[in-house]
Amino acid sequence: MAFDQIIKGGNVVTPAGIFTGDVGITGEKISALGVNLEGDNSTKVIDAKGHHVIPGVLDVHVHLELPFCGTVSADDYRSGTRAGARGGVTTLIDFAIPYAGESLSQAADNWMKKAEGKSLIDYTFHICITRWNDHKDQIKGMVDRGFTTFKEFMIYESEGWQSDDRAMFGTLEKMKEYGTMLLVHAESARVLDELIARHHTPEIMQKYGARLHRMTRPNFIEAEAIQRAVQWCEATGGQLYIVHMSTGEGADIIRAAQARGVPVLAETCVQYLVLDDSVFDREDGHLYACCPQVKKPKDVQRLWKGLKSGEVSVVSTDTCTFDREQKAMWNGDWTKIPMGMPGLETLMPLTYTHGVLGGKISLEEMCTKLSTNPAKIMGLYPKKGALQVGADADIAIIHPDIKHTVDPNSMETNADWSPYEGWELAGFSRTTLSRGDVIVDDYCVVGKEGRGQWLPRKTAGLAS
Ligand code: URP
Ligand code: ZN
Ligand code: ZN
Repeated sequence: MAFDQIIKGGNVVTPAGIFTGDVGITGEKISALGVNLEGDNSTKVIDAKGHHVIPGVLDVHVHLELPFCGTVSADDYRSGTRAGARGGVTTLIDFAIPYAGESLSQAADNWMKKAEGKSLIDYTFHICITRWNDHKDQIKGMVDRGFTTFKEFMIYESEGWQSDDRAMFGTLEKMKEYGTMLLVHAESARVLDELIARHHTPEIMQKYGARLHRMTRPNFIEAEAIQRAVQWCEATGGQLYIVHMSTGEGADIIRAAQARGVPVLAETCVQYLVLDDSVFDREDGHLYACCPQVKKPKDVQRLWKGLKSGEVSVVSTDTCTFDREQKAMWNGDWTKIPMGMPGLETLMPLTYTHGVLGGKISLEEMCTKLSTNPAKIMGLYPKKGALQVGADADIAIIHPDIKHTVDPNSMETNADWSPYEGWELAGFSRTTLSRGDVIVDDYCVVGKEGRGQWLPRKTAGLAS
């Protein structure tokens, strides 16, 4: 076997277990896993002694250059994918959202243009259905074009994105028919609107500031919406995937539904695993506004438990970066805070440091939740998601315990702040390979802008 590269002597995490040895790479693919693999004079050797060699991370919930909340999110395909690569992310899935009056196909074209020539890593998009009457007959065409995951938002009426029960029900019927999957942002719009209206007075805003973000989104706002989406999933048999689940109640609903055979899966985001809503008591608490917002310590614990016991299948980021100037648009009114946080660069470091080093999940479980499950569920496996022969050579090499301090000044994201500023994290990628190309070397991005490829898909929604 001729190897172009051999990664030597690492602690290699594979679906069959962990071993100390080598990964052989030929062209863009993994061509061998073994001990003492031999190359020839032209084989490049990457030393991984004393390091974990793990599958590249798939962040399947990302928003780059998204027009939202009256501005445009600050990380584009250049900065966002460079940030991801530093954190071992080798594939991302963004959301193509139609602008006013546009078709699903136009939305995909728009997002293709954002990515082309800029993306360092491979990518694809979930297609967002925002106007059911117009979009329902366009879904099959998108499946034929290689897009097999769709998304509906139960909130965001003012953005023109909100779907009602009729749309969700009809979309799930189509997902069942096509073997595709619907992702849902589950928050209960009408009750949320009511709670916001009750608190939206100058006196209350003056008194509570950004704390109103947590005060107007109690856990039942998410729980009721998840319950309703699960009901439509159960009624139709269409595959459902709850994005950015933030509550313990949500995890309980998903667990119970899965136990009775309902085809629903759930993702959480790393911020819901390491932050809680005491952040809104900070002077700069408004920076932490994302949607849904981070919850209570008991929710944090329940979500970790859900990862361990299986009802939470995936950890992603919901990256939607706004810098300090953009966040300042709130000017004392919490309903005007651009919602979202940077995340791609710190997904694996946070999950590794708090999950694996924190004793909550094993290294193999981390790889399952960050790589293998997302690849399987999103229809990218076995090309992506695991270190095995024939897979793309998408690989991260991380030191087991060397820590770096999170400092926005030395990061790739365009954010000028980080929710984790000053945190000491292990798990940044010393070396990242994407389809065999070294794109991060010695913790620095070295890959070529625009080398990332769009990933067409045929299937989705396969539970792990
Ligand atoms: O705060 C967030 N999550 N911003 C992005 C939009 C969404 O709901 O995912
Ligand atoms: Zn959302
Ligand atoms: Zn999102």
